[in-house]
Order: sequence, then structure tokens, then C-alpha cells
Amino acid sequence: MNQQYLIDLDQRIREWLHTLDETIPQLIAQMHTSTKKDRFDLVTNVDQTIQEQFATFLEAHYPEHQLFAEEKSNDNIDARHGHTWMMDPIDGTMNLVKQQEDYCVILAYFVDGEAMLSYIYDYPHRHLYHAIRNRGAYKNGEELHSPAPIEMQDAILSFGAQFVNNTTLRDLFDASFSHRIIGSCGLDSVRVITGQFGAHFNTNPKPWDIAAQFLFARELDLKMTSLRGEALDFTKAGPFIISNPGCHEAVLEVLQRGEGYEI
Ligand code: IPD
Ligand code: CA
Ligand code: CA
Repeated sequence: MNQQYLIDLDQRIREWLHTLDETIPQLIAQMHTSTKKDRFDLVTNVDQTIQEQFATFLEAHYPEHQLFAEEKSNDNIDARHGHTWMMDPIDGTMNLVKQQEDYCVILAYFVDGEAMLSYIYDYPHRHLYHAIRNRGAYKNGEELHSPAPIEMQDAILSFGAQFVNNTTLRDLFDASFSHRIIGSCGLDSVRVITGQFGAHFNTNPKPWDIAAQFLFARELDLKMTSLRGEALDFTKAGPFIISNPGCHEAVLEVLQRGEGYEI
């Protein structure tokens, strides 16, 4: 892929993300919430409008790019071929509704199945994390470095404890330093990217929850696999871990050993 195309595209996307600094407060001022599958599965006008605005931006400037995103049907999309954007317009919607904090926008750009650009925008704290293939990862434009190895006994682990069976949960608590969960797959992953958490795993993420993490993991030498240690398919997702290399194997070993987890 032409490097200049990628650099120009990255610039345009970061500019687009900063248009949200004006849009999000306006949308929050008129926030209305509906439910999807059950009473915990929320969507708001903020999620829907952000996604619609990005779709409009792509149609206007990059009509050959396709959008695979949470708040739409993706049935007719062949995400492995051509230019594909994966989007979670708000990751952590429950946090947006209940706390007005700890949510982010996730965007990831793939060309013929290869991760080229990634963004996790922590809007409440105005932290924009982005990665460019072969050019590294950044926080608000400052380069991030690969975190130092963190062994399991020193690691904060992040996961939904309600999905882990009792003996395995106990084993994880005993083997690690502590447990924390933010409640946004993107932001829990950011803590691993910045070296604050040892690992984050999610037993049932969707493609948009984990799309951006592939490139951050690649650029920063982190591990990102299924919970069996296998490669992940970005079009399907499924049980996933993003981990500091110092504790990846140890976390997977505990997950395989006992009663394990639910999906
Ligand atoms: C959810 C959040 C949450 C994770 C769920 C996701 P949403 O995304 O990332 O932390 O545990 O699996 O579905 O619904 O807020 O976009
Ligand atoms: Ca999500
Ligand atoms: Ca979402």
C-alpha cells in the first residue's frame, strides 16, 4: 500500500475524530437510550449518530471504503477484501449512560484483511490512541513504547468476573497481583497497551470490540490471541486476550486448567 495514501488518510481520520469534540456534548445533552437484546444491551442516539456521521464521511471522501459497524447490518460485507473500516461508535455504552465516563470510539482500517490504521478515542479524557502499520503507536501524537514485561504475580488482570467459573476465578486472583475492570473493551485494552494492566480478556467480544487492538499489539509487541492461544479472525472475533508478553502464557494456562469460563 502507498505510504503517502496511508499518512494522508490517518490525518483525515484524526481530524474527523476531533469533530466529535463538538458533536458528543451536543448529543449527550439530548441523550435518549433504547435497549436491544435485553435490558443491559443499550444503545443511544450518541452511538447511532456518531456511526451515521462516519458513514457519511466515508461516502463523501472514500466511497470505495466499506463500513462494518455495530449499529448496522453487515450481512453484505466481505470484510477480508478491499478497504474495510470496523467501527464501534461507542464502546462502553453502559458507562456512557450510567456514569458519563469510561467510554471510547473504536475505529480500525484493514486493506485486504491486513490492519493498517487503528484508533481508540477516549473522548471523556481527550486521549486519542492511534497506530499506523510499521510506524508505531501514539497517544495524543506522542510515541508509545513496548511495555516492559510484567509477570503474572505482578500483573493487574482485567476481565468480566461474572463469566469466569469459580475455581478458575480463584486461581486467577491467587496467581495475579489484582483484578480491575473498566467496562469498555477498548479502554481495558488501552491499559495493556500502555503497560498499566498485564492483560485484558473478554470471553465473547464482537469484531468491533477488538478490531483496533490488532495493530496496537503488532506495533508494541503485545500478545493478542484467542483464549486457547490461537490466531484470531478479525471478521468473527470470539474469546480474546490482549496481553503483555510477560504473562500471556500464564493467564492462558490458568484459563485452560480448571472450570474455565462461559461465553
Ligand atoms: C461492550 C463493552 C464491555 C464488554 C462487552 C462489550 P458496548 O461493548 O466493551 O466492556 O464486556 O463485551 O459488548 O456494548 O458498550 O459497545
Ligand atoms: Ca463494544
Ligand atoms: Ca458499542
